[in-house]
Amino acid sequence: MNKLIIASLLLGLSTTSQAGDKIAGEKKANEKACFSCHGKDYKSPIDPTYPILAGQHEDYLLATLKQYKRASTAEKTAALTRTNAIMGGQAAGLSTKDMEDIAAYLASLPGPLAINPESRLIKTK
Ligand code: HEC
Repeated sequence: MNKLIIASLLLGLSTTSQAGDKIAGEKKANEKACFSCHGKDYKSPIDPTYPILAGQHEDYLLATLKQYKRASTAEKTAALTRTNAIMGGQAAGLSTKDMEDIAAYLASLPGPLAINPESRLIKTK
């Protein structure tokens, strides 16, 4: 019984960190041609002001997609909304599962985004 509870807790933890299905996300991103602006590899956007998505944090990607979508729905509240004419239209047609899957796919791609630790915070011997 205890083993079952522990197993389901572990399963719960692993599914929250890996919510999306990246294979389905790749398919959906291709279908929606997200690469036409963000670049084939999602790190070479067609315009330097368009964000690099490859390797971005999955939870951040999901949050932004939801914010763009919210801007076009009744759920609109300023704090949780990103109003952008281009991305609003892109996100409006995505379901929550689509957004989770796409976020997982984009986060799994190799990209130049990185956390650069501040040297003063790194403990040296
Ligand atoms: C017509 C060009 C275009 C297309 C197609 C497009 N995007 Fe975007 N995307 C943009 C632009 C421009 C921004 C920056 C918008 C802003 O300033 O909020 C952006 C922003 C984003 C962001 C936020 C990134 C960040 O760092 O904040 C995500 C995530 C994203 N796009 C995902 C997608 C996905 C997924 C698709 C396909 C469903 C897609 N985009 C299709 C132009 C595009």
